[in-house]
Amino acid sequence: MSARRALRLGILISGRGSNMAAIARQCREGRIAAEVAVVISERPEAAGLVTAREYGIPARALAWPGAAHRAQFEREAAAALDAAGAELIVLAGFMRILSGQFVAARAGAILNIHPSLLPKYPGLHTHRRVLAGGDRVHGATVHFVTSELDGGPRVLQSRIAVRPGDTEETLSARVQATEHIIYPKVIGWRADGRLEWRGELPWLDGQPLTQPLLEDFDA
Ligand code: GAR
Repeated sequence: MSARRALRLGILISGRGSNMAAIARQCREGRIAAEVAVVISERPEAAGLVTAREYGIPARALAWPGAAHRAQFEREAAAALDAAGAELIVLAGFMRILSGQFVAARAGAILNIHPSLLPKYPGLHTHRRVLAGGDRVHGATVHFVTSELDGGPRVLQSRIAVRPGDTEETLSARVQATEHIIYPKVIGWRADGRLEWRGELPWLDGQPLTQPLLEDFDA
């Protein structure tokens, strides 16, 4: 383990939490200078909460009984994140839309991963839409979060080839395997002070990213 101070992460999940687990693993192995301070889900039954506790990470379920309760969830989440000293909020399969107010108060300090090559296919059912569109390539995007759904400045994308016979399930599995590589990588850049969001664009190593970086997994 290096002497770098670990960046404290607050991870929000809604389900399985495989991205959260990939990030936690890299933190634990000292491969990125970060530590998962808290995991929060709006779904008490989220399997990722159990996984987080297995990693020794405090994990909290916070109620979101309906859209009208978003403000309550956000108040409780903000309190839990602050109490844990979270410096970077990581949305990892968090399937709710945070308010513009919550996001604006944390500009540049929230990352998301989305299973498509944004700006293509924001929203749900990305694998189905890739197949319906006859696309030859697919992938995932890590981006800073703004109030625009899946619309914030993009940092890094993974790209895979769509193969004959692919289904939503096979695409989901291959895209997720790439997510587990690119999301910890971006968090590591952030933890090393190499990545920031200035004005409209992300900057990496002092250079503006006018286009997201692209990692090809089927080249
Ligand atoms: C991931 O594939 C992530 O890209 C997607 O949910 C999955 C969560 O998996 N996120 C979104 O669709 C957000 N728009 P995980 O819980 O196993 O990390």
